[in-house]
Amino acid sequence: MKIFVTRKLPGTALDRLASLEHEAEVSVLDRPLTSEEFLEKTRGKDALLTLLTDKIDAAVIDAIGSQLKIVSNYAVGFDNIDVGAATERGVVVTNTPSDEVNEAVAEHTWALLLSLSRRIVEADEATRRGAYRGWEPDIFLGVSLIGKTLGIIGLGRIGSMVARRARGWGMKVLYNKRLRDEEMEKELGVEFRNLDGLLSESNFISLHVPLTQETRHMINKSSLAKIKKGAFLVNTARGSIVDEHDLVEALRSGHLGGAALDVYDAEPNINPELIGMENVVLTPHIASATWEAREKMGQQAVDAILKTLSGEKPENLVNQEVWEKRRK
Ligand code: GLV
Ligand code: GLV
Repeated sequence: MKIFVTRKLPGTALDRLASLEHEAEVSVLDRPLTSEEFLEKTRGKDALLTLLTDKIDAAVIDAIGSQLKIVSNYAVGFDNIDVGAATERGVVVTNTPSDEVNEAVAEHTWALLLSLSRRIVEADEATRRGAYRGWEPDIFLGVSLIGKTLGIIGLGRIGSMVARRARGWGMKVLYNKRLRDEEMEKELGVEFRNLDGLLSESNFISLHVPLTQETRHMINKSSLAKIKKGAFLVNTARGSIVDEHDLVEALRSGHLGGAALDVYDAEPNINPELIGMENVVLTPHIASATWEAREKMGQQAVDAILKTLSGEKPENLVNQEVWEKRRK
């Protein structure tokens, strides 16, 4: 069968794709494919290994052809894929969640949070620029974490790993989730709040919900106004959970003390005002970028393709309901 991988991946996973049974091609371009290139390369393929930068909707699935059996997304999130359209057409969709990737995202969340609380990026920039004149009592004062409150929105796998790490920093942890989870409360020592309560009590707020209709722009002018003055926001989930324009306003007015972002509303574009702000830390969607996480993601994405093409149900099937009526 024919397999196409839309981008070269780090690690060894792709070595397993080429075999006597399958013909595998990996894009040689060091960038996402344009939609024309994407269609040209994927038409007639049985399996695709895609990235978040590939948009897969009904028209794209139809253009690839009725032989397409699986879209294996090299990511935890799959908001780049119209899963409903894939399911209707009998196309299997898989993703790559694992402890390795979730822990990498949780660690990056903490890296960002600490960068904000201790102004690491601003201080680094000033030091490199030659502004360090010797110890001073009042340069780059940050805030201590101990005794402060961390509000976690979305206590799924990543959110709970972030919560677990907060214990080590001596923080109080609040969480919000659609359904209260008393077992997690016991295990992690976290307290449930409704969204408004969490926003108004937390010194640091971290987002860990998936992007859905419900969560799109859930952090907007009205929710930002409920945040405790001077609090900090961290987003390693999806950019579109935050209304970037309203975020800029809240940062400019000083209502929000700072923000650390790994994801953006219109990636790879970033609101230019954010780039000019000192109380903002920006990373280029690298929360899962550890060797360990990316190797695992690659192996899982390849496993899903090999299993599906051999008729075996893959792990991490996003659209469970497709399996019995999948294309063969
Ligand atoms: C990255 O954002 C992912 O969903 O894996
Ligand atoms: C978010 O992660 C949720 O499960 O509500």
